[in-house]
Parts: sequence; structure tokens; C-alpha cells
Amino acid sequence: MKRLLALTAAAFITLPLTPAAASPVHGARPGAPGAGDPYFPEQGNGGYDAAHYDLTLDYDPATGRLQGLARITARATQALSRFNLDLVDTLTVRSVTVDGRAAAHAQSGSELVVTPARALPRGRAFTTAIRYDGEPVHVVDPDGSMDGWIKTSDGVYNANEPQGAKSWFPGNHHMTDKATHRFTVTVPSTRVAVANGDLVRRTSRAGRTTYVWNSCEPMANYLATVTIGAFSLTDTRIGRYRVTTAVDPQQSAPGFAERHPPVLDYFSGLFGPYPYSSTGGIVDHAPEVGYALETQTRPVYPGAPGESLLAHELAHQWFGNSVTPTSWRDIWLNEGFATYAEWLWSDKLGTRTVQESFDEAYARPADDDFWQTPTADPGGPQNLFHAPVYDRGAMTLHALRGTVGDRTFFAILRAWAREHRYGNADTAAFASLAERVAGRRLGALFDAWLHQPGKPSL
Ligand code: ARG
Ligand code: ZN
Repeated sequence: MKRLLALTAAAFITLPLTPAAASPVHGARPGAPGAGDPYFPEQGNGGYDAAHYDLTLDYDPATGRLQGLARITARATQALSRFNLDLVDTLTVRSVTVDGRAAAHAQSGSELVVTPARALPRGRAFTTAIRYDGEPVHVVDPDGSMDGWIKTSDGVYNANEPQGAKSWFPGNHHMTDKATHRFTVTVPSTRVAVANGDLVRRTSRAGRTTYVWNSCEPMANYLATVTIGAFSLTDTRIGRYRVTTAVDPQQSAPGFAERHPPVLDYFSGLFGPYPYSSTGGIVDHAPEVGYALETQTRPVYPGAPGESLLAHELAHQWFGNSVTPTSWRDIWLNEGFATYAEWLWSDKLGTRTVQESFDEAYARPADDDFWQTPTADPGGPQNLFHAPVYDRGAMTLHALRGTVGDRTFFAILRAWAREHRYGNADTAAFASLAERVAGRRLGALFDAWLHQPGKPSL
């Protein structure tokens, strides 16, 4: 009651004296056009923090046309006169509103600049609605691979690491701005649209089917997917998991859904609880893509995965998806950990011990180029997915395990997953967490494995 009175008094003093329409927002300035990532400086935007994306998409694989409505809820982190979203200008923005009022907008390259009718005070929650359409095309990455909206013979293979998200929806696409997502996707009824999270509704009318997917845990936009094809869809509960799978008719993936729980149970024992409300995967037929992606809750595969690839993408749900790096330079925190998890799973299956996997990777001669790339910085966006990121990253973890022992090592992995759950953390944070849990200095080990070029000695 006392608090209520105080609030009322404050409101009475400030509100009537400064009518909203006339109040200028002090110090309002444009949000930064990028988040300042060392590898992708333009990716993401400054000045606001996105909380939720509500995407309504209509796609026709026959024409390749996409119609979209993105409703983005965000909070201003500074007084904002205008702000940017990432969206390629080959898609056409038809209208933008902020809190229901028409806003000016301009597109240039991968930046969509929105100027609200009225500046937004710092701390204000606001909703931006963007209507857009066009024919999405994939992005070509600095390493020559493609990502984004990649067309297939019957739909779309949608994998967005590192920068494909801007090819199909507007947003704050740097990994440090996580948000929840809801996808409402309409496709011809001969196709299935699969996205992240839980399938909450499927309705058909006049030859078109609408799928609604709700992704209720925070997600970086590079982990979003809307993959479309003539899939067969299953949605079953197996033990404590809701397993939702989609398999292309050209692929043979017997028992695909049933293969998930044993891997997730094993990793839960090692890393801590599985972080998401559902799991599963999408087995597409996309030989031209050539890579899988750990899209959140439901990885996408260009063909039926073997045991190692399945384990790799599921391990990313802890390492990469729930605990996400703060910049692309720290990509080994994703790939080194997922590769190490592959080694653990092969050991568990009795195929190959972790030590054998380590020895094989370590056997590369000291003058091999491989050893010139330090784990913690592969040297630029063109090297994001180079072998050292995966193998030297995994070897780094094995060297740590050899130094601190099994008990402490797995305690470090669990503390990493727990303390940074749904958040972001960098290499320095990992090193200091490891030292804290181990109760000893590990500077020399991390320096040799993470920061110096050359083959570390054992
Ligand atoms: N993170 C994926 C994996 O390790 C690889 C993504 C590759 N992306 C790319 N644009 N080449 O499974
Ligand atoms: Zn990976």
C-alpha cells in the first residue's frame, strides 16, 4: 500500500506536466548499425535488446516467393532516434510500424533502418512490425560455403550460421542478442514446414497448411530454422523427451527419432540436464549443401546422419546453443566442445576411445599448417569452420582433462553449462571458470593450446 501511494504520487508529479506528444526524448541518437563483432562487424545492431520474434511466413516453393510479417518485441537500451535491423535489400520491406504507428524505413545492403514517429526513451519496451516479401536467396560466406535460405528441389534447407538469418527475416542477428521465437508458416499442403521448438498447431485449408512452432527458450538467430520439404513428420514422446522429426522421402533414416534419447541421456549425465523442451532433427535431401547445423532443439542434416554427426549436433544444444560465444572469434567454444562430445560418444559406443581420437588428431606433424592456427582465434571469418577449430579445440579439452583429472574436468563442463545456461560467454570466461573449479592456475596450458601458434607439447 505504501509503495502504491508512492508510485501514484510520482506519476501524478511527472505525467500531467509533460504530455507525451510534446516531450522530446533527451539525448536520443541512432542505434549502432552493427554489434561490433571482430569477424562480422555489421552483424547485429546497437541500441535495443530483442526479446521476442513472432514471424508469420507464407512460402510457395514453386515460385520461391516469401511473404513475411515480423513482429519484434524489444527494449531500448539507449534513447533511440532510429535503429537498424539486419535484412538483405533483395527482400522488399512494404511497411513498418512501431507500437502500431507508421515508421519511416530505408533499406541499404543488409541494413534496414527504422525511424519511429517518436523517439524511444531508454528502457522503453516497443514492438516493431515489418511487412516484407520477395524471393529469398542464400548468402555466400567468406569461406565460400552457403547459408541462409537455401532452396532445394522441394523446398528450403534453412541453416543460418554464421549470417544467413538476414536472408529471410529482419532482426538483431548477432549471437549476443538472444530471444524467444514463434513461427507461423504456411506452405502448400504437399509440403511440411519445420521450425525450432514445439509444434503447437497444424491447420489446413484450401490446399495450404499452416504450422505453428513455439520456441520458448532464448535462441540466437543463427540457430533459427524454417526448413521446408515433402517430409514425413513424426512427433512422439520417448521417455522424458518430446522428439519431433522430419525426414525427406529420398532419405532412409530408420529409427531416427529413437536414436536421440540415448545420446541425450548420456550427455545429460556428463554435461547436466538437456536445456530444451523438445528435441529431434530434420533429415533433408540437400547434397549440395554438405553440412549439418545444430539448429536449436532440432538440427538440420543434408542427409541421414551417422552416429558421430548426430552426437555432434546434439552436443551443440548445450555448447553453442544454450551457452553461446560472445563473438565469432570464440567459435571453438562451439566446435571444439561438440567434437569432443563426438569423441565421448564413440568411446561410449565402443567404436574408438577418446584417447585414440586425440592421438590421431595430435599425430599431425609439427610443421603441418594445422598447428599454425591457435584455438581461440582462427584468424578471420574465412577460417570459421577450419579443422583446427574442431580438432585442436577438442584436443584443448582433452589436454585440460589430462591435467585436472576426470572428476574436475566434467565438473568444469557442467559448471560451464549451468552458469551460462541460455547466455553468452567467451574464452576468457571459460579459462577463469576452469581455474576456479580446478582450484589452480592453468595459464600455461591455456596459453599453449588456446593462444599460441605451434604444436603444444604434452
Ligand atoms: N556448426 C556446424 C557444425 O559444426 C557447421 C556450420 C557450417 N556453416 C557454414 N556456413 N559452412 O555442425
Ligand atoms: Zn559443430
